[in-house]
Amino acid sequence: MHTNATSATEGDASKMPEQAPEQAPEHSPEQAPEQARFERQLDQGIPIESADWMPAAYRKTLIRQISQHAHSEIVGMLPEGNWLTRAPTLERKSILLAKVQDEAGHGLYLYSAAETLGVTRDAMTLDLLARRAKYSSIFNYPTLSWADIGAIGWLVDGAAIINQIPLCHCSYGPYARAMVRICKEESFHQRQGFAIMTVLARGTREQQDMAQDALNRWWWPVLMMFGPPDHESTNSDQSMRWGIKLHSNDELRQRMVDQTVPQAQFLGLSIPDEQLAWNEARGRYDYGAIDWDEFRRVVNGDGPCNQERLAARQRAWDEGAWVREALEAHAQKQATAVAAA
Ligand SMILES: [Fe+2]
Ligand SMILES: [Fe+2]
Repeated sequence: MHTNATSATEGDASKMPEQAPEQAPEHSPEQAPEQARFERQLDQGIPIESADWMPAAYRKTLIRQISQHAHSEIVGMLPEGNWLTRAPTLERKSILLAKVQDEAGHGLYLYSAAETLGVTRDAMTLDLLARRAKYSSIFNYPTLSWADIGAIGWLVDGAAIINQIPLCHCSYGPYARAMVRICKEESFHQRQGFAIMTVLARGTREQQDMAQDALNRWWWPVLMMFGPPDHESTNSDQSMRWGIKLHSNDELRQRMVDQTVPQAQFLGLSIPDEQLAWNEARGRYDYGAIDWDEFRRVVNGDGPCNQERLAARQRAWDEGAWVREALEAHAQKQATAVAAA
C-alpha cells in the first residue's frame, strides 16, 4: 500500500517516524563552497536556516521527518478526541480539551516548520491521505476505556518527550525552535496522564483493573514507537551526521524503560514483561523481546484503527474544502483591492 517501502519497514520513532534519509548526493564543483559552509555550520552547532544553502537530500529528509511528525500530532488527536464527551468529570474534560488542542498546535508549528523548506501544507496533507506519508503507529490503537487516556498521557507523551527533547538541539533552526515549545507542552501532557493513572491506581478494585489493563495494552506498542532495533536501522548514520537524529532507537527505548519502571512501581501497577529485570552491571533494566511483526503490520496499514484514522482525516479534508475555497476567494479579493489602490 505504501509507496515508500524503505520507510515502511524502517518504522516510526515516536511522533516522528524514523526516516530513511536520502543518500547524500555528489555535489557539483560549483556547490563545493556552499557544501563546505554547510558542513562547518553542522560542526560548529550553528543552526541551518531556511535561506541557507543545504544539500537537496538534507532538505528532502527533513521535509519527510517534520511532515510525518506533524501528521502524527494531528492524527494523535483522534484517539483522545474519542473521550472528550465521556470524560468522568468537567475538570477532566476541560483538561483533555486543552491537551487535544495543544496537539493541534503542535501539528501547526510543525507544518509551518516544514513549509520553510519549500513544501505546502496541502501537499503534505495529500501525501498523508494518499498513504505516501506516515504517522506514528501508536495512534492506530484504540482507546477502549478512560484509563487509556491516562496511559496515553503517561506513556505516549512520555515517549514523545524522550524522543523530542534532543530535537530541540537539532541542526535545522525552525524545527529545533518548534520543538522547544512542543516539549514544554508535552511535559504537561505526560503529567496529566500520570495524574489520571494515580487516581485510578488508588481507586476501587475496578479502577485499578482498568489502569492495569490499559498499561498491559499500551506498553509494547509504546516501546515500538522508538522504531526498529539499531541493528536493523541501517539509515540512521546519515541522519545522525546531519544532526537531525541525535540518539539511536535502542538508546531512547532503554531510557523509556528505565524512566517508566519506577513510575509503574509507584502506581502499584505491573509492567507486562516477565523478563523485565534490573541489570546491576549495566545499571539499567533488561526487558523482553518486542514483537516486530506486529510493528511492521501496523506501520504497513494493518493495525486495529488505521482505516478509521485515515478515513477521519479524509473526511476533515473533504469537509474543509469550502474553507479553503473561501480563503482563496478572500485572498483574491484582497489582492484585487490592493492592485486597484
Ligand atoms: Fe504533541
Ligand atoms: Fe502531547
